Amino acid sequence: RTVYVNGEYLPETEAKVSIFDRGFLMADGVYEVTTVLDGKLIDFDGHATRLARSLSELEMKEPVTKEELLSIHRKLVEENGVDEGLVYLQVTRGAADRDFAYPKDAEPTLVLFTQKKNAVNSPAAKTGISVISIPDIRWGRRDIKTVQLLYPSMGKMAAKAAGADDAWMVEDGFVTEGTSNNAYIVKDGVIITRNLSTHILHGITRAAVLRFAEVAQMKIEERPFTIEEAQNADEAFITSATSFVQPVVKIDDKAVGTGTVGPVASRLREIYLEESR
Ligand code: PDD
Repeated sequence: RTVYVNGEYLPETEAKVSIFDRGFLMADGVYEVTTVLDGKLIDFDGHATRLARSLSELEMKEPVTKEELLSIHRKLVEENGVDEGLVYLQVTRGAADRDFAYPKDAEPTLVLFTQKKNAVNSPAAKTGISVISIPDIRWGRRDIKTVQLLYPSMGKMAAKAAGADDAWMVEDGFVTEGTSNNAYIVKDGVIITRNLSTHILHGITRAAVLRFAEVAQMKIEERPFTIEEAQNADEAFITSATSFVQPVVKIDDKAVGTGTVGPVASRLREIYLEESR
């Protein structure tokens, strides 16, 4: 694979980042994951805009312009022959002597690579996934897409250990989001998902799906919901750049609705794939 590091396109085995990089030492960095379908980027603009916001919240400069970022994405997709998969992008504050205070003159480190992945025909879209609930003990700025992903990793491992696929995190009695996705339920035809705040990541797929749902005249309520409400809903599902819309059929061992993939989640997945590619 060809990867990108700070202005250079290199074979992945030759790419290097300093051991003093603050991304490595302090998780002082942000990232984006953009999906590729039919060799084309899905929602690049949304991801670039969120990246700019994450950087600005952490007082980091944008390493390159949005236009340059787009051409780097496109070049890697082409070089690596990615038809279906993703582009991963990471910006860290750069290398400096270890210090909690931000260094004044560090140059940001920009890294991008591609991964091929079958996402459209994922088996989970047909069968649905199961989730467990875990407490949300992450920090309070989940609207910034930082590379501090240890707790979500632990959540994923806890899910696997329990024989489930993923975990929904719960704070003050309400679901915040999945380990790497936004969470939804459907009751009496109404799509319910948590409102945007610093408690969750502002999903680019979430924005697109809600936009398409509105055009399709579906009813939407943006508010927090509990695990109990989700277990008693007609349907549940998640969204993310890499999973699109994926049905959730079981929560903490209790079937949601009929325990099979429901019509609203299927329809939203269909609309999303049709409209965004
Ligand atoms: N995760 N919430 C969290 C905590 C996430 O990590 C993600 C994305 C989302 C969905 O956001 P979007 O629709 O913009 O992908 C919500 C990416 C895919 C990842 O970490 O791989």
